[in-house]
Amino acid sequence: MNLPWAEPYRIKTIEQIHRTTPAQREDWIRRANYNMFNLRSEQVYIDLLTDSGTGAMSSAQWAEIMLGDESYAGASSYYKLKAVIEELLGFPFFLPCHQGRAAENVLFTTLIGTGDAGAGKVVPGNSHFDTTKGHIEFRKAHAIDCTIDEAFNTEIEHPFKGNVDLGKLEAVFKAHPRQDIPVCMLTITCNSSGGQPVSMENIRGVSALCRRYGIPLFFDSARFAENAYFIRLREPEFAQSTIPAIVKEMFSYADGMTMSSKKDGIVNIGGFVAFRDEALWRAASTFNIMFEGFNTYGGMAGRDMGALSVGLREACELDYLESRVGQVAYLGGLLTGHGIAVQRPYGGHAIFVDAKRVLPGVPKEEFIAQTLGIELYREAGIRSVEIGTLLADRDPDTGKERYPALELLRLAIPRRTYTNAHMDYIAAAMANVKDRAPKIRHGYRIVREAPIMRHFTVELAPAE
Ligand code: F0G
Repeated sequence: MNLPWAEPYRIKTIEQIHRTTPAQREDWIRRANYNMFNLRSEQVYIDLLTDSGTGAMSSAQWAEIMLGDESYAGASSYYKLKAVIEELLGFPFFLPCHQGRAAENVLFTTLIGTGDAGAGKVVPGNSHFDTTKGHIEFRKAHAIDCTIDEAFNTEIEHPFKGNVDLGKLEAVFKAHPRQDIPVCMLTITCNSSGGQPVSMENIRGVSALCRRYGIPLFFDSARFAENAYFIRLREPEFAQSTIPAIVKEMFSYADGMTMSSKKDGIVNIGGFVAFRDEALWRAASTFNIMFEGFNTYGGMAGRDMGALSVGLREACELDYLESRVGQVAYLGGLLTGHGIAVQRPYGGHAIFVDAKRVLPGVPKEEFIAQTLGIELYREAGIRSVEIGTLLADRDPDTGKERYPALELLRLAIPRRTYTNAHMDYIAAAMANVKDRAPKIRHGYRIVREAPIMRHFTVELAPAE
């Protein structure tokens, strides 16, 4: 018999979480104005809001916390991190930042500018993450999504739904002059399309095209190790390769990267932007000093840089990735077994439930994925996040609702945090919601909303 995967670690410290009663949850979600961002964490039993900054650090990382050098300049913790970024990722220059969006701010200020400097400019890529898109649009530039069409059908089993359609990308390159395309951003894995990976073949293709047109290529690398694992699993050329070798080759095609270390850095806070070119690094460092901090800490404590230097390596261990991606797939398999429609194939960090197919009776005007999320909380105290109409915001020109093709409920799995018994519990809770779905005919209406990024603070009330 083939031995199954099991976690390559055992538990040394635990954090208590508590089950609650249906009456308590009903009261709490009402007081939270039916917005799960307003729940207190004690009101949640299993928290699947995000995999960002919510993972468990290893004993080796905690040891680095004690070894942290908090010198303003030249801290040894900075040099530990620098050595790992150079050796593992292949970038000789980097700037620490407080998280991923801060790295984006430094990069786009350097490549685009500030104010309206981006007017008329475009940044092509594969379903840019919200903050990336936000930083591009904040500068009046446009993010152009060149993801392959297969990504938008949850039922198609394509191994690399994060891939860029090279035809779409070249069309953008042809339609705009070189000086209006400051950078091409490739997100690995692509969060917005369901934690879906980009193949090495596609990375090579994108890189060759960028080179041909003289466009810099940067990776949004939050989940780079999970991307490398999928390449090993699904691209025959890499079946025998080590994860660090795949990681090194992936980044060899990029001119630089932004990183949210809260994901595959397995730390609670932190990020960085890295460069191959010294002149660009020099230009960016001025903005890093203004926005983040001096070049050798940039918004991170020395102890956090130390923990990150260990976390980046741990994220690239094959046994860890097998159990990490295996656990997400385990949950996906259970949900599929209960007849619940989810994005296929299963992503690296989360399962995305196709809410329209679980709650066919709820009208689209009443926020279907949000309704499903609230029902899952009511059922079992599980917190998830809506990736649907609330997140899409209104059309800024017309003020009308924009209904995306998919209403998804994301169940993001924190790294090294929950066991498969928790996954069993989540799947059973979702199956119970599905069983009573025929009775769920109404969702929610908006009581108060912000003009942009409304999903964080929106206040809702039952539609009926
Ligand atoms: N890029 C990707 C692909 C992300 O998923 C995120 C964050 C960021 C950039 C921004 O990084 O949060 O450190 O500023 N994603 C989190 C999530 C928030 O829940 O998916 P950050």
